[in-house]
Amino acid sequence: MNTRIYKEKSRIIKAKSMIPPTFTSNSEDQTADLAQEFAKILGCGDVLCLHGEMGAGKTAFSRALIRSYLGYEAEVPSPTFTLVQLYEKNETAIWHFDLYRLNDPEDVFELGWEEALSSGITIVEWPARLGSLIPVSRYDISISIVNNDVRVFKIDKVCDHA
Ligand SMILES: Nc1ncnc2c1ncn2[C@@H]1O[C@H](COP(=O)(O)OP(=O)(O)O)[C@@H](O)[C@H]1O
Ligand SMILES: [Mg+2]
Repeated sequence: MNTRIYKEKSRIIKAKSMIPPTFTSNSEDQTADLAQEFAKILGCGDVLCLHGEMGAGKTAFSRALIRSYLGYEAEVPSPTFTLVQLYEKNETAIWHFDLYRLNDPEDVFELGWEEALSSGITIVEWPARLGSLIPVSRYDISISIVNNDVRVFKIDKVCDHA
């Protein structure tokens, strides 16, 4: 696809969803505000890849998104050791992966990966662990730490144009 048209299209997608391409958060509460915008637009088959170093706020963002999507203050532990946590809601569950401890990308299939992609909303911390298994259509969210309280979110919608 022509690059200019692609840029136009992605701008429209972002405009419709009220999700800015970059977002500066000054507190965990402001991060939750951004997460709530995502909770409104995500649906079955959507994948969110959260990039950023340890302590960037990947889990804080995921927790706020999951709670907003579920509509109640669910307990949302970090999947550091379980690698995945599943939250059911009607037909579309949310799957929250933390792949930091994944040894081999192929091991993700044992965690319900295919079911997550086909029937759920998928959130992934440490998505680089997937190697070439990273889904071609996804939201890439890169979080950088500015200081103790401030984080910058860079958001890209990546589409499969093949
Ligand atoms: N603006 C912010 N957004 C999100 N988390 C923040 C922010 N400012 C400070 N924090 C703190 O940073 C930490 C982020 O931890 P966590 O979400 O577990 O990171 P990660 O999952 O990326 O390793 C939490 O202690 C949180 O309170
Ligand atoms: Mg985490």
